[in-house]
Amino acid sequence: MTLHSTYPAISDLRDRARKRVPAFVWEYLDSATGTEATKARNRQQLDRIGLMPSILHGAFTPTLATDLLGVALPLPFGIAPVGMSGLMWPDAEGHLARAAARAGIPYTLSTVASQSPEDLAPHLGPQAWFQMYPPRDEDIRTDMLARAKAAGFRTLVLTVDVPVASRRERQTRSGLTQPPRLTPRLLAQVAARPAWALGMARRGLPRMRGLEKYTPKTTTALASTQHAGYLLRTSPDWDYVSWLRDAWEGPFIVKGVLRAEDAEPLKNRGVDALWVSNHAGRQFDAAPATIDALCDIRAATDLPLIFDSGIEGGLDILRAFACGANFVMLGRAFHYALAALGPPGIAHLLDILKKDLEANMGQLGARTLAELPPPFSLP
Ligand SMILES: Cc1cc2nc3c(=O)[nH]c(=O)nc-3n(C[C@H](O)[C@H](O)[C@H](O)COP(=O)(O)O)c2cc1C
Repeated sequence: MTLHSTYPAISDLRDRARKRVPAFVWEYLDSATGTEATKARNRQQLDRIGLMPSILHGAFTPTLATDLLGVALPLPFGIAPVGMSGLMWPDAEGHLARAAARAGIPYTLSTVASQSPEDLAPHLGPQAWFQMYPPRDEDIRTDMLARAKAAGFRTLVLTVDVPVASRRERQTRSGLTQPPRLTPRLLAQVAARPAWALGMARRGLPRMRGLEKYTPKTTTALASTQHAGYLLRTSPDWDYVSWLRDAWEGPFIVKGVLRAEDAEPLKNRGVDALWVSNHAGRQFDAAPATIDALCDIRAATDLPLIFDSGIEGGLDILRAFACGANFVMLGRAFHYALAALGPPGIAHLLDILKKDLEANMGQLGARTLAELPPPFSLP
């Protein structure tokens, strides 16, 4: 029995992850907002992207390498920012950062991660990206950028699709409060997952360590989230983008772009790449499928485009590239892998994606990502 025979697809990792983490953790990781129509739409519209298979092209081994922002990357995908990753597995951020460094792919640390930029500094590879939820206070903003830079992060990502908190009703129903409190109900959920509880007991419950410098000292784990909402609850505007552009020397990416009209103004403000995303349907339930937005934005700009939301395998990565993406990110899949199998899950997921990319490129006769055929609409 190999991992590939038991867990050949991301959906297998997802199923196992669900059985291994407490219900409130699962709902935090897996839920979207509203009736989750946007989350479903992401899948439906990806499935509608057709690619014509090719025949009689002879045998070849495809290369999965690609270029992004002037850098050659061995694989066309990386790891999206996920707040409080440590809830899914102890030291999740450390495991993900090390795996990304080994594989030479980008790892994005969230502002609201359970580890700080300093915690991760020893583990970062050259593709270390820092994702910023915009602090309202300019001193904190400046300090956060300086800390990210000193820790070794070279690429800055500003997330703009969280102008206000999302309701995420499924998460609320699970008993997870804002700020999180370990109520008897949550403790009962924890008791039902002893392996998870043991792991957390060994390392201590995760907290938003990167923000603790700016929050009052707290005595209880998880309570550091209490002030995070206030600190970060600001809706950035166009001037904020310009301010950040001036303040950060390296590549600067704006995440959460869905409207083609926003592409040129962002380019004019010096943004280096757009991250086309609907936050996996977690923020707004009437948003377009990210793949539809990608096609429109590609037609409107020559900026590099990063795509995420709902990637479930190598074929979805190829669909995004065929629609004009220059790179793809995955958020939940890496956390399903960790929750399902622990750290070996990350290497297994990388392998699933590589094998799936190679198999589908073989069907398409595409030796490189640049050779993918144009997409067409399936009924
Ligand atoms: C549990 C969870 C937490 C997230 N936290 C953040 C975050 O802190 N910052 C951010 O920019 N995006 C965050 N995202 C969104 C991801 O970066 C990414 O856009 C999305 O998960 C991609 O879709 P996928 O999970 O289907 O791959 C989060 C997503 C999930 C599932």
